[in-house]
Amino acid sequence: MKVVAFNGSARKNGNTAILINCVLDELMREGIETELVQFAGKNIRGCIACYKCIELKDRRCAIHNDIMNDCIEKMMGADGIVFGSPVYFADLTAGIKGFIERAGMVGRANGDLFRRKVGAAVTSVRRAGAIHTFDSMNHFFFISQMIVPGSNYWNVGVGRDIGEVDKDEEGKATMRLLGQNMAWLIKKLQE
Ligand SMILES: Cc1cc2nc3c(=O)[nH]c(=O)nc-3n(C[C@H](O)[C@H](O)[C@H](O)COP(=O)(O)O)c2cc1C
Repeated sequence: MKVVAFNGSARKNGNTAILINCVLDELMREGIETELVQFAGKNIRGCIACYKCIELKDRRCAIHNDIMNDCIEKMMGADGIVFGSPVYFADLTAGIKGFIERAGMVGRANGDLFRRKVGAAVTSVRRAGAIHTFDSMNHFFFISQMIVPGSNYWNVGVGRDIGEVDKDEEGKATMRLLGQNMAWLIKKLQE
Protein backbone atom coordinates (compact mmCIF):
# COMPACT_ATOMS: atom_id res chain seq x y z
CA MET A 1 0.00 0.00 0.00
CA LYS A 2 1.34 3.37 -0.97
CA VAL A 3 0.37 7.05 -0.84
CA VAL A 4 2.06 9.68 -2.98
CA ALA A 5 1.79 13.36 -2.04
CA PHE A 6 2.38 16.42 -4.23
CA ASN A 7 3.26 19.77 -2.70
CA GLY A 8 2.34 22.61 -5.05
CA SER A 9 4.08 25.30 -3.01
CA ALA A 10 6.83 27.44 -4.54
CA ARG A 11 8.64 26.97 -1.21
CA LYS A 12 10.28 23.65 -0.48
CA ASN A 13 9.69 22.33 3.05
CA GLY A 14 7.37 25.21 3.92
CA ASN A 15 4.04 25.20 5.73
CA THR A 16 2.25 23.02 3.18
CA ALA A 17 5.01 20.40 3.42
CA ILE A 18 4.72 20.42 7.22
CA LEU A 19 0.97 19.77 6.99
CA ILE A 20 1.37 17.07 4.34
CA ASN A 21 3.99 15.38 6.52
CA CYS A 22 1.52 15.28 9.44
CA VAL A 23 -0.76 13.21 7.16
CA LEU A 24 2.08 11.03 5.87
CA ASP A 25 3.43 10.32 9.37
CA GLU A 26 0.09 8.77 10.35
CA LEU A 27 0.00 6.71 7.17
CA MET A 28 3.52 5.41 7.86
CA ARG A 29 2.51 4.58 11.43
CA GLU A 30 -0.18 2.38 9.87
CA GLY A 31 2.41 0.60 7.71
CA ILE A 32 1.62 2.46 4.49
CA GLU A 33 4.55 3.52 2.31
CA THR A 34 4.66 7.22 1.45
CA GLU A 35 6.43 9.55 -0.96
CA LEU A 36 6.43 13.35 -1.11
CA VAL A 37 7.08 15.17 -4.39
CA GLN A 38 7.68 18.92 -4.02
CA PHE A 39 7.13 21.19 -7.02
CA ALA A 40 9.36 24.04 -5.79
CA GLY A 41 11.75 25.01 -8.60
CA LYS A 42 10.17 22.48 -10.97
CA ASN A 43 8.11 24.71 -13.32
CA ILE A 44 5.05 22.60 -14.19
CA ARG A 45 3.08 24.31 -16.92
CA GLY A 46 -0.62 23.88 -17.62
CA CYS A 47 -2.42 21.84 -20.28
CA ILE A 48 -1.78 23.09 -23.84
CA ALA A 49 -5.07 21.58 -25.15
CA CYS A 50 -3.30 19.51 -27.82
CA TYR A 51 -5.63 16.56 -27.07
CA LYS A 52 -2.78 14.12 -27.83
CA CYS A 53 -3.61 12.18 -24.66
CA ILE A 54 -7.11 11.57 -26.00
CA GLU A 55 -5.80 10.62 -29.45
CA LEU A 56 -2.96 8.33 -28.30
CA LYS A 57 -4.42 6.95 -25.06
CA ASP A 58 -0.90 6.09 -23.91
CA ARG A 59 -1.33 7.25 -20.31
CA ARG A 60 1.08 10.09 -20.90
CA CYS A 61 1.03 13.85 -21.33
CA ALA A 62 2.44 15.01 -24.68
CA ILE A 63 4.62 17.60 -22.90
CA HIS A 64 7.68 15.53 -22.06
CA ASN A 65 10.16 18.08 -20.74
CA ASP A 66 9.08 18.14 -17.10
CA ILE A 67 8.26 15.78 -14.21
CA MET A 68 4.58 15.34 -15.17
CA ASN A 69 4.74 11.87 -16.69
CA ASP A 70 6.85 10.58 -13.78
CA CYS A 71 4.19 11.96 -11.45
CA ILE A 72 1.38 10.30 -13.42
CA GLU A 73 3.27 6.97 -13.11
CA LYS A 74 3.55 7.51 -9.36
CA MET A 75 -0.18 8.24 -9.13
CA MET A 76 -1.07 5.12 -11.12
CA GLY A 77 1.05 3.01 -8.77
CA ALA A 78 -0.42 4.48 -5.58
CA ASP A 79 -3.48 3.57 -3.52
CA GLY A 80 -3.83 7.12 -2.28
CA ILE A 81 -2.97 10.60 -3.56
CA VAL A 82 -2.50 13.78 -1.49
CA PHE A 83 -2.48 17.25 -3.03
CA GLY A 84 -1.14 20.16 -1.01
CA SER A 85 -1.27 23.81 -1.98
CA PRO A 86 -0.77 27.05 -0.10
CA VAL A 87 -3.37 29.70 -0.79
CA TYR A 88 -2.20 32.14 -3.48
CA PHE A 89 -4.66 34.96 -4.17
CA ALA A 90 -7.50 32.99 -2.59
CA ASP A 91 -6.85 29.97 -4.81
CA LEU A 92 -4.42 27.13 -5.48
CA THR A 93 -0.93 27.70 -6.89
CA ALA A 94 -0.23 27.74 -10.63
CA GLY A 95 1.89 24.59 -10.19
CA ILE A 96 -0.84 22.47 -8.65
CA LYS A 97 -3.40 23.91 -11.11
CA GLY A 98 -1.24 22.97 -14.10
CA PHE A 99 -0.71 19.55 -12.55
CA ILE A 100 -4.45 19.03 -12.09
CA GLU A 101 -5.22 20.09 -15.68
CA ARG A 102 -2.70 17.67 -17.16
CA ALA A 103 -3.13 14.68 -14.83
CA GLY A 104 -6.88 15.20 -15.10
CA MET A 105 -6.91 15.09 -18.91
CA VAL A 106 -4.56 12.08 -19.09
CA GLY A 107 -6.65 10.26 -16.48
CA ARG A 108 -9.93 10.91 -18.29
CA ALA A 109 -8.44 10.12 -21.72
CA ASN A 110 -7.50 6.68 -20.46
CA GLY A 111 -10.68 5.50 -18.75
CA ASP A 112 -10.27 7.32 -15.42
CA LEU A 113 -6.83 6.05 -14.37
CA PHE A 114 -7.25 7.12 -10.74
CA ARG A 115 -10.74 5.68 -10.25
CA ARG A 116 -11.41 4.47 -6.69
CA LYS A 117 -8.07 5.58 -5.36
CA VAL A 118 -8.25 7.58 -2.14
CA GLY A 119 -7.65 11.32 -2.46
CA ALA A 120 -7.09 14.11 0.06
CA ALA A 121 -6.31 17.81 -0.24
CA VAL A 122 -4.38 19.94 2.25
CA THR A 123 -3.95 23.70 2.27
CA SER A 124 -1.94 26.26 4.23
CA VAL A 125 -3.05 29.86 4.52
CA ARG A 126 -2.03 33.13 6.11
CA ARG A 127 -5.59 34.46 6.47
CA ALA A 128 -8.21 33.96 3.71
CA GLY A 129 -9.08 31.71 0.76
CA ALA A 130 -8.42 28.30 2.30
CA ILE A 131 -11.86 26.75 1.76
CA HIS A 132 -11.91 27.78 -1.90
CA THR A 133 -8.41 26.30 -2.40
CA PHE A 134 -9.43 23.08 -0.61
CA ASP A 135 -12.55 22.83 -2.79
CA SER A 136 -10.56 23.44 -5.99
CA MET A 137 -8.29 20.47 -5.28
CA ASN A 138 -11.25 18.25 -4.36
CA HIS A 139 -12.79 18.92 -7.80
CA PHE A 140 -9.99 16.80 -9.29
CA PHE A 141 -10.68 13.87 -6.96
CA PHE A 142 -14.42 13.87 -7.52
CA ILE A 143 -14.35 14.05 -11.34
CA SER A 144 -11.68 11.32 -11.30
CA GLN A 145 -14.08 8.94 -9.48
CA MET A 146 -11.83 8.96 -6.44
CA ILE A 147 -12.92 8.47 -2.83
CA VAL A 148 -12.32 11.34 -0.45
CA PRO A 149 -12.11 10.86 3.35
CA GLY A 150 -12.54 13.78 5.72
CA SER A 151 -11.22 14.85 9.08
CA ASN A 152 -12.99 16.65 11.95
CA TYR A 153 -12.37 20.04 10.29
CA TRP A 154 -11.57 21.10 6.72
CA ASN A 155 -7.94 20.30 5.92
CA VAL A 156 -6.49 23.74 6.62
CA GLY A 157 -3.45 24.94 8.59
CA VAL A 158 -2.68 28.58 9.39
CA GLY A 159 0.72 30.24 9.04
CA ARG A 160 2.66 32.75 6.94
CA ASP A 161 6.42 32.36 7.30
CA ILE A 162 8.07 28.98 6.81
CA GLY A 163 7.42 26.82 9.85
CA GLU A 164 4.75 29.10 11.33
CA VAL A 165 2.08 26.44 10.77
CA ASP A 166 3.86 24.35 13.41
CA LYS A 167 2.19 26.58 16.00
CA ASP A 168 -1.29 25.71 14.66
CA GLU A 169 -2.03 22.73 16.92
CA GLU A 170 -5.62 22.40 15.67
CA GLY A 171 -4.48 22.42 12.04
CA LYS A 172 -1.89 19.72 12.70
CA ALA A 173 -4.41 17.60 14.64
CA THR A 174 -6.80 17.90 11.65
CA MET A 175 -4.04 16.53 9.40
CA ARG A 176 -3.18 13.66 11.75
CA LEU A 177 -6.82 12.58 11.89
CA LEU A 178 -7.03 12.88 8.11
CA GLY A 179 -4.02 10.54 7.85
CA GLN A 180 -5.68 8.04 10.17
CA ASN A 181 -8.93 8.14 8.20
CA MET A 182 -7.06 7.79 4.94
CA ALA A 183 -5.19 4.73 6.25
CA TRP A 184 -8.45 3.18 7.51
CA LEU A 185 -10.12 3.70 4.14
CA ILE A 186 -7.20 2.40 2.08
CA LYS A 187 -7.11 -0.77 4.19
CA LYS A 188 -10.89 -1.26 3.86
CA LEU A 189 -10.65 -0.90 0.09
CA GLN A 190 -7.97 -3.63 0.02
CA GLU A 191 -10.20 -6.16 1.86
C1 LIG B 1 1.84 34.81 -4.30
C2 LIG B 1 1.26 34.58 -2.93
C3 LIG B 1 -0.08 34.81 -2.73
C4 LIG B 1 -0.65 34.59 -1.48
N1 LIG B 1 -2.00 34.78 -1.32
C5 LIG B 1 -2.58 34.56 -0.13
C6 LIG B 1 -3.99 34.71 0.03
O1 LIG B 1 -4.74 35.01 -0.89
N2 LIG B 1 -4.53 34.50 1.26
C7 LIG B 1 -3.74 34.14 2.34
O2 LIG B 1 -4.27 33.97 3.42
N3 LIG B 1 -2.41 33.94 2.20
C8 LIG B 1 -1.80 34.12 1.00
N4 LIG B 1 -0.45 33.91 0.84
C9 LIG B 1 0.32 33.37 2.00
C10 LIG B 1 0.53 31.84 1.92
O3 LIG B 1 -0.68 31.17 1.65
C11 LIG B 1 1.09 31.34 3.26
O4 LIG B 1 2.30 32.01 3.57
C12 LIG B 1 1.34 29.85 3.26
O5 LIG B 1 1.56 29.39 4.57
C13 LIG B 1 2.54 29.47 2.40
O6 LIG B 1 2.74 28.07 2.43
P1 LIG B 1 4.17 27.42 2.05
O7 LIG B 1 5.10 27.73 3.20
O8 LIG B 1 3.91 25.98 1.89
O9 LIG B 1 4.60 28.09 0.77
C14 LIG B 1 0.16 34.13 -0.39
C15 LIG B 1 1.52 33.91 -0.61
C16 LIG B 1 2.07 34.13 -1.85
C17 LIG B 1 3.55 33.86 -2.06
